[in-house]
Amino acid sequence: MRKKIVAGNWKMNNTLQEGITLAKDLNAILANETPNCDVVICTPFIHLASVASLVDSAKIGVGAQDCADKASGAYTGETSAAMVASTGAKYVILGHSERRSYYGETSETLKDKVKLALENKLTPIFCIGEVLEEREANKQNEVVKAQISEALFDLSPEDFSKLVLAYEPVWAIGTGKTASSEQAQEIHKYIRSVVADKFGKEVADNCSILYGGSCKASNAKELFANPDVDGGLIGGASLKAEDFKGVIDGFKA
Ligand code: PGA
Repeated sequence: MRKKIVAGNWKMNNTLQEGITLAKDLNAILANETPNCDVVICTPFIHLASVASLVDSAKIGVGAQDCADKASGAYTGETSAAMVASTGAKYVILGHSERRSYYGETSETLKDKVKLALENKLTPIFCIGEVLEEREANKQNEVVKAQISEALFDLSPEDFSKLVLAYEPVWAIGTGKTASSEQAQEIHKYIRSVVADKFGKEVADNCSILYGGSCKASNAKELFANPDVDGGLIGGASLKAEDFKGVIDGFKA
């Protein structure tokens, strides 16, 4: 059975001290709970080691928001997948639309990042999603298929099955606009069919596909109730422990 996952994406928020407080708050809020999903927090690089050492790793996984497309060497300012893994982090978000649009990330660089993440036993949370004009032109399926095929179709089915996908319509990120439950289910089902066509039904059935884009406590339950929505990648609503807990509770009966 595929995993249900709620992953927080802190983006470029919180100083180290603020991040430690937030991680402690989340740890405390989940201490007497058994979430019905895996819980992950993806922090800035700076926070990883401290946060990974303070949270209950049986309950909260820690991840980075990116890693370098090179293994090591003279790449000033970069952080490698091996460095991320050495902090105790287990996940890495790759291909977030903000990286693609503001930092020129391409499918070619993403291929290398995915490979390095997997070599270092990190689980990539690989993001795909269309911009508003593409949705308005009804091109969303074409776009996500190209994003998946360009960066991930070189993987073996075994390697692909180590990945988590996150569908994030760019028009819904940080805008307060959420894809409707029907829109989310429709495209998640399509994404699963793309995976099935390439890697086979079993790999597709076991692939967790998260929804991201203004997902919060008030809409999580409805979104997560869809058969092909296996959880969420949560930006704004992951920055307060109670709000994030509200999203995690979207999986409560
Ligand atoms: P949001 O961000 O929840 O603030 O819309 C989601 C994301 O970009 O991962």
